[in-house]
Order: sequence, then structure tokens, then C-alpha cells
Amino acid sequence: MKIIIAGASGFVGKELIRQCLRMPTITSVVALSRRGVSPPDNSEGVSKLRNVKVSDYDNYPDDVRKEFDGANACIWYVLF
Ligand SMILES: NC(=O)c1ccc[n+]([C@@H]2O[C@H](COP(=O)([O-])OP(=O)(O)OC[C@H]3O[C@@H](n4cnc5c(N)ncnc54)[C@H](OP(=O)(O)O)[C@@H]3O)[C@@H](O)[C@H]2O)c1
Repeated sequence: MKIIIAGASGFVGKELIRQCLRMPTITSVVALSRRGVSPPDNSEGVSKLRNVKVSDYDNYPDDVRKEFDGANACIWYVLF
């Protein structure tokens, strides 16, 4: 299962990443944020994490859209 987490650099987003990376049924985690995220310390499954920077959530360039291919779910935790 492939999951997109928007707002990945935030308080909730970072914990979501940590938990998703530990779940064997989740094979890919795409972390969207403006700042980028550091992989959690001592986390299992770090190789499943894709860090994708988004400067404008109303406009996704083609290279960012490609990262969404095959996703099963998106968890939205962007603070507006
Ligand atoms: N923390 C809690 O206990 C809690 C509980 C219930 C509900 N919530 C809700 O969950 C949401 C996230 O909470 P949080 O505590 O994780 O917040 P947070 O730590 O401030 O994180 C917010 C995220 O949104 C992004 N962001 C902030 N302003 C933005 C903007 N103008 N444009 C694009 N991205 C922006 C930030 O990433 P970048 O700056 O890297 O882009 C960051 O990843 C909020 O709506 C909050 O009300 C939080």
C-alpha cells in the first residue's frame, strides 16, 4: 500500500510517518511538505520514505504529480 502524507514536516505528520514506516502492509510513504522532513530516528522502514517538496498545494508540477502514481490513500495534515 502506498500512502501520501501532506503536512509531513508538522507535529502530527512526523508521527504519522514514523508509524506508517513501521507497518509492513505500507510499502511506500510519500512525505509532502514545503521544508522537507528528516527520517525519524531509529525507525524501521526508512527506505520506504520519499521526501517530496511542495511549494504550492494548489499547483503540482509534473514531477510531483508523478510521485502520486499508484497511491492508495492521502492523509492531509497541512495547517492552513
Ligand atoms: N497537534 C495536535 O495535537 C492536533 C490535534 C488535532 C488536530 N490537529 C490539526 O492537525 C493539523 C496539523 O497540526 P500539527 O500540530 O501537525 O501542525 P504543525 O506542526 O504546525 O504542522 C503543520 C504542517 O502544515 C504545513 N504548513 C503550515 N502552514 C502552511 C502553509 N501556509 N502552506 C502550506 N503548508 C503549510 C507545515 O509544513 P511546511 O512548513 O514544511 O510546509 C507542517 O508540515 C492542524 O490543522 C491542527 O489543527 C492537531
